[in-house]
Amino acid sequence: MTLADFVFVPETPAHDVEIDTINAEAFGPGRFVKAAYKIREGGPHDRALSFVALSGGLVVGSVRMTPVAAGEGRAQLLGPLAVQPAYKNLGIGRELVAMALRAAAKASVPSVILVGDEPYYGPLGFSRIARGQMTMPRPVDPNRLLAHEILPGAVASLTGELCHVDKAPVRHEMPDPLSAMPASALSAAG
Ligand SMILES: CC(C)(COP(=O)(O)OP(=O)(O)OC[C@H]1O[C@@H](n2cnc3c(N)ncnc32)[C@H](O)[C@@H]1OP(=O)(O)O)[C@@H](O)C(=O)NCCC(=O)NCCS
Repeated sequence: MTLADFVFVPETPAHDVEIDTINAEAFGPGRFVKAAYKIREGGPHDRALSFVALSGGLVVGSVRMTPVAAGEGRAQLLGPLAVQPAYKNLGIGRELVAMALRAAAKASVPSVILVGDEPYYGPLGFSRIARGQMTMPRPVDPNRLLAHEILPGAVASLTGELCHVDKAPVRHEMPDPLSAMPASALSAAG
C-alpha cells in the first residue's frame, strides 16, 4: 500500500461516527481529561480545515482543527490526529497534517498550535512555544506545546490561557479616530 491508495478529503458530518471510533482506539478514555479536549468542548471544530483519509470509502485517518484564542492571538488547534493501526507508517499522518497546514494558510489562519510529540511534529514545521507564554486549562508538559507560524508574529500574540474562540472575551477594537469623526469635521480639517 502507498499513499496513492488513499483518498484525502475535507471532513463531513457523515465521517463523525468513524472518526470517534478511531480516536477512541488511538487515545482511549484518557482523552476526555486532556487539556486539548477541554478546549475543544468549548465549541465546534472547523470542518473546512479538517481532513480524513479514506480507503474504500472508509475513514482510516483523521485530523481536526479547532479555532482557538489566547489573549489577542487567534489560531487553530490541530488535533486529534489519528490513523488506524493497520494503516500506520504509510505517511497518512504526515499528509493529513500537511493538508491541514495548507488549508490554514489559504484561509489566512495566523498560526496552528497543538499538544504533541516534537520528534513527530518538528519535521512537519512545528516548534516549541516559549515556556510560560501561553497556558492551558489543564496541566500540559510545556515541551509538548508546539506551534506552526503562518503570519509573522502570530505565535507571540498568543498569551494567557488558551480557549475555544467561542469562549474568548469579545475584543474591543480601538476605533479609528478618523472614521469616528463626522465627514464635515474631516473636510473642515482639510
Ligand atoms: C501519530 C500517528 C498519527 C502517526 O500516523 P502515521 O500515519 O502512522 O504517521 P506517518 O506514516 O506520517 O509517519 C510515520 C513516522 O512517524 C514516526 N512516529 C509516529 N509517531 C511518533 C511519535 N509519537 N513521535 C515520533 N515519531 C513518531 C514513525 O515512527 C514513523 O517514522 P519513520 O517514517 O521514520 O518510519 C499515529 O501513529 C497514531 O494515530 N497514533 C496514535 C494517536 C496519536 O498519538 N496521535 C498524535 C497525537 S499528538
